[in-house]
Amino acid sequence: MTARIVGTGSYVPEQMVTNEELSQIVETNDEWIQTRTGIRSRHIATDRGTSEIAAEAARRALEDSGIPAEEIDVILVATSTPEKHFPSCACEVQAELGASRAAAFDISAACSGFVFALNVMYAFVKAGVYRTGLVIGADVLSKITDWSDRGTCVLFGDGAGAAVLRADELGIRHSVLGADGSKKDVLSCLSRSNGNVWMNKAPEMGYMTMDGQEVFKFAVKKVPECIRQLLQESGVREDEIRYFILHQANVRILDSVAKRLKQPLEKFPVNMDRYGNTSGASIPLLLDECNRKGMLQKGDKLVLAGFGAGLTWGAVLLEW
Ligand code: UT7
Repeated sequence: MTARIVGTGSYVPEQMVTNEELSQIVETNDEWIQTRTGIRSRHIATDRGTSEIAAEAARRALEDSGIPAEEIDVILVATSTPEKHFPSCACEVQAELGASRAAAFDISAACSGFVFALNVMYAFVKAGVYRTGLVIGADVLSKITDWSDRGTCVLFGDGAGAAVLRADELGIRHSVLGADGSKKDVLSCLSRSNGNVWMNKAPEMGYMTMDGQEVFKFAVKKVPECIRQLLQESGVREDEIRYFILHQANVRILDSVAKRLKQPLEKFPVNMDRYGNTSGASIPLLLDECNRKGMLQKGDKLVLAGFGAGLTWGAVLLEW
């Protein structure tokens, strides 16, 4: 028995911000952003929080699956931008959906979060703990973005994606996860409650900081490495994979991974041109787009792979 994706959904906030608009805030231009990253625009959540957009994506995934919220056993939300230290974003989503039977908790693995959360659901199903779950990736990175830092602010966007999983004979086949905490400072964001209020110290404001080139080098090496390991351990060849649904950070990273795996670029769907890097949301957002466009046929083998702060990385092989 394994866990199978039986429905997907996604949501991006209404307000769209183009590269041109960003060039009025920081010293940048559309040409630099497009050629270095592949991003043209992104969506920013000006009036909705992480749990609201997560719940909206989840509602759409439930609708797609035909499974009522009351049948959900567990809700997992992968996010780096929950609105509160507690309760978790997952508990807020549970209340929004009325999924009253579900256990609910958040998972923190930055841009790899959705792949980590899928793996937790896979383990729950394999162990017979739960049968039906909602796995969500949702982030509002705009609230931890330093809008005066052109090295990061042009890259990210807000959004949410969700998948409903259910115990079945076919579905997730294997997964590989990894972390290297010694590289924790390459991409990080201080918690906003970092000050010690007891000593009357003002809390430090946390904004995301990143060594872009380090992350780039790590991604182009680690992602193909972990996909190769995933496929070798599963006895599946690269050319048997219908699509590689990768974390959407930079089209140059996708190009490089495709080359290293000796696979055509057409097998690597892209939507970062419209959404930027939406962190934990990027993989389920892209998966939902592929699903709704009718690109996925029953039995197709897919690889989902993410990488990000931690540093963390992970890949999942599944049959659609
Ligand atoms: O989800 C995981 C998180 N992050 C990532 O995956 C990011 C991975 N890294 C990257 O995607 C790339 O490293 C970036 C897109 C962040 C940067 O691209 P790069 O080709 O590595 O550029 P760079 O950092 O080497 O900067 C090249 C130049 C620098 O100017 P000088 O020193 O050559 O004069 C930068 O100051 O580009 C400058 N620059 C910009 N220019 C215009 C940096 N940001 C901008 C900008 N607009 N927004």
